[in-house]
Amino acid sequence: MKSSAIAHANIALVKYWGKRNEELMLPYNSSISMTVSDFAAHTTVEFGEQYEEDIFILDGIQYEKGSRVYDKYIERFLEKVRKKVGSNLRARIKSQNNFPTGAGLASSAAGFAALATAINGSLSLGMNKKELSMLARLGSGSAARSVVGGFAEWKKGEKEDGVDSYVEQLVPPGHWPECRMIACVVSQEEKEVSSRSGMARTVSTSPFYVSWLGQIEQDLNDVRRGIKGKDIVLVGKTAQRNCLKMHALMLSTSPPLVYWGPATLRVIKKCLEWQKERDCFFTIDAGPQVKIICLERDSEEIAERCALIKGVEEVKVLEPGEGSRIVDDHLF
Ligand code: PMV
Repeated sequence: MKSSAIAHANIALVKYWGKRNEELMLPYNSSISMTVSDFAAHTTVEFGEQYEEDIFILDGIQYEKGSRVYDKYIERFLEKVRKKVGSNLRARIKSQNNFPTGAGLASSAAGFAALATAINGSLSLGMNKKELSMLARLGSGSAARSVVGGFAEWKKGEKEDGVDSYVEQLVPPGHWPECRMIACVVSQEEKEVSSRSGMARTVSTSPFYVSWLGQIEQDLNDVRRGIKGKDIVLVGKTAQRNCLKMHALMLSTSPPLVYWGPATLRVIKKCLEWQKERDCFFTIDAGPQVKIICLERDSEEIAERCALIKGVEEVKVLEPGEGSRIVDDHLF
């Protein structure tokens, strides 16, 4: 009953921010993302009678009952999984990320997509991608999108039980192989406010939340159309505006959510300048890192320029990546 899986991070082009149901992780709005190459979580899961308690090891650290990571993320997720599949078995989980955890680089998306995929294998659940996205969703909303490769849409759904809130692949990675996402890492620290509590705070206090929802369909339509037509300007411009709208929501939350750092703003300003002569556009999640979307033809030059900005610690050029998958390589 041991199984291992790899899943990659995904970067949202139209963001998910706010849940209509916290328990089932159902969003108020649909979202669209690119699953990226390179940034990956590798996870091994074993369910069995021999385990009296769930064991969770992430990047070499074992998290115990009573710790925030264990209680809030892993235990809650595993309880939901056991309820859903009707099992009482406990598990040993070991996971490794090849990029900073909890710093706004979608580590929870890669992590829960890999975990859900390994659980599917370990318990022989036989889930297809749609079902798998619904399982991953229970761990972290954005994880649902890392189940598929290329570009993905997570449909918000209307039903209260969440059966229509799942992910569909818009196009596979090979549809737009020249699309690039340049990740500029400006801080390796974990963020102070998790996206989970941050978005709940926004929904209940931001005066602009209603207008965010009112404009989402237009952004989704434009990004969907842009991806299908490989239109970097339409995708990039819309993604950048959508990201700034989300950060405007965050700033208008009380108490305010300020995820940016000084280097974040430096990259933003440079990108706005470069934009006058290059097709490059930024997006930022619930953290300080900046991701720049562009085409292969400009990526090397832009990555070099990013590396020269004060406070930028690491620059990585990412391509459209694969969805989550079972691998033979076990971590224990
Ligand atoms: O699913 P979470 O809790 O990782 O929230 C993701 C929130 C954003 O990254 C800011 C937006 C998104 O759609 O990925």
